[in-house]
Amino acid sequence: MSEPAHTPVLLPEVLDVLAPAPGKLIVDGTFGAGGYSRAFVERGAAVVAFDRDPAARRFVSGIAGADQFRMLEYRFSTMAAELGDGAADGVALDLGVSSMQLDEAERGFSFMRDGPLNMRMGAEGPTAADLVNQTPTSELARIFRVFGEEPRGRRIAAAIDRRRAEQPFTRTQDLAEFVERVLGGRRGAKVHPATRVFQALRIAVNAELEELEAGLVAAERVLKAGGRLAVVTFHSLEDRIVKAFLAERAGKTPGVSRHVPPAAKGPAPSFELVFNGVKAPGGAEVAANPRARSAKLRAATRTAAPAWRAAA
Ligand SMILES: C[S@@+](CC[C@H](N)C(=O)[O-])C[C@H]1O[C@@H](n2cnc3c(N)ncnc32)[C@H](O)[C@@H]1O
Repeated sequence: MSEPAHTPVLLPEVLDVLAPAPGKLIVDGTFGAGGYSRAFVERGAAVVAFDRDPAARRFVSGIAGADQFRMLEYRFSTMAAELGDGAADGVALDLGVSSMQLDEAERGFSFMRDGPLNMRMGAEGPTAADLVNQTPTSELARIFRVFGEEPRGRRIAAAIDRRRAEQPFTRTQDLAEFVERVLGGRRGAKVHPATRVFQALRIAVNAELEELEAGLVAAERVLKAGGRLAVVTFHSLEDRIVKAFLAERAGKTPGVSRHVPPAAKGPAPSFELVFNGVKAPGGAEVAANPRARSAKLRAATRTAAPAWRAAA
């Protein structure tokens, strides 16, 4: 394949957790360029892959053993509905966007390349331009603050509000330069001043955090007892959700002292942690693939207890 593809992140660690092998069914919730799926199939597992981006399908031809591989162009939150409860031995979620999505200007994810202000992974729903031009200022400020962890969210939203009344935003470069001007230029910062705004818009456009919460609940249902979940996150908002979900489902919710019996016993733990905390890429992986630098892997084994009721 001639186009530059996505380099899989923390792949050996994910393989260690999921141990793909003949007779196992692994769900790859985030197919991307198929780096994980290919490795699962090569080890003899059957794989059902999900990707909400129809453009990911072009990487399916790179996967051998087509009879043990199937790809669905759906969101990963649908995995339990598609495959049934207890169907899978492993679930991998490698969150966020792929290198292809980031690098193709036309997808509108990047402040480095000029393109339409789109940022949708799939084909449906409002674009980033719709959000930037139509969202009430206070809500836009909240999006920048919460999803971008941008402390100057209000200032940026107010400036956007004034400018869009005159001239709506349609291009990534225009928005990136505008945010840079509002924040008073680069001021020697290593990262582009619009980084947080772009992250926030991407998360909002694709409802990424809601999708992650729903995906974890779906993984709890689709995994059989003894099955494994491996989740790779790329920023603290994602990691916090995964950490809290697994702590709760493993019966380790903070605040419950071992000296004080809990008032009401919750459901039996549906997961056990495979290891405490996270695994992060080593220096060699980050040197070879800078996009791996903020990656964190968490992993858990499904117990035989029933899945908890939905509201996590
Ligand atoms: C980081 S890439 C995965 C790369 C992949 N592991 C590989 O090695 O090539 C993330 C992919 O997940 C997809 N994605 C993100 N959120 C999704 C969701 N909720 N449902 C399905 N696919 C999703 C994106 O479209 C993107 O292609």
